[in-house]
Amino acid sequence: MSQSALNKIGVLVSGGGTNLQSIIDNIHLGECNAEIKCVISNIADVYALTRANNANIPHYVISHKAFTSRAEFEQALIQTLDTYDVDMIVLAGFMRVLESTFISHYPGRILNIHPSLLPKFSGLNTHQRALESDETTHGCSVHFATTELDGGPVILQASVPILDNDNATMLAMRVLEKEHIIYPKCVQWLCEGRIYYKQGCAYFDNEKLTAALQLEQIK
Ligand code: GRF
Repeated sequence: MSQSALNKIGVLVSGGGTNLQSIIDNIHLGECNAEIKCVISNIADVYALTRANNANIPHYVISHKAFTSRAEFEQALIQTLDTYDVDMIVLAGFMRVLESTFISHYPGRILNIHPSLLPKFSGLNTHQRALESDETTHGCSVHFATTELDGGPVILQASVPILDNDNATMLAMRVLEKEHIIYPKCVQWLCEGRIYYKQGCAYFDNEKLTAALQLEQIK
């Protein structure tokens, strides 16, 4: 039995907000029936907040530096999010590690996007690390967020070739284009109840995913 549909989302950001923008755009195009109830950044003056303002979405800065512990910071995030009664949390370029206080408050209802083909290159500087490896492809992954950094079950991935003259910036731009396709798709699937998290696994159309779905195979 699939989970009930969830469509009120809170989005956490830390930077430029291009993934936030792709979700906003897909909602406006009618491709995604989520409703972004609020946007929270842990850093002030980032362009993601401008994007939220332009889309008339309530937005806040909750700085992790204002709290003496990670748990207190996470409680502050929860307090704001819960005033909007959100069903789902979308981490969109959010650059803080979230621990059990936050994760356990939204069990199975937090999505994250990571710029690599997980489990390869979890953590930071993924594009440079991919260039320095002997990999010929790179890409991005949408996964359920758990307390394990970049470790939750992966739902959907998209791949790009690593080209001979690539540098990290060029590769990042190519990956970002795919991020803007797979993230809104996964948000829509969660809203429809087509994907859900159960006992540490991701389910798609009520089938346990033993491997991530690949964008190239589902179009
Ligand atoms: C993206 O590569 C995303 O995968 C990573 O942060 C980068 C910037 O995301 N988490 P955005 O433009 O702020 O959405």
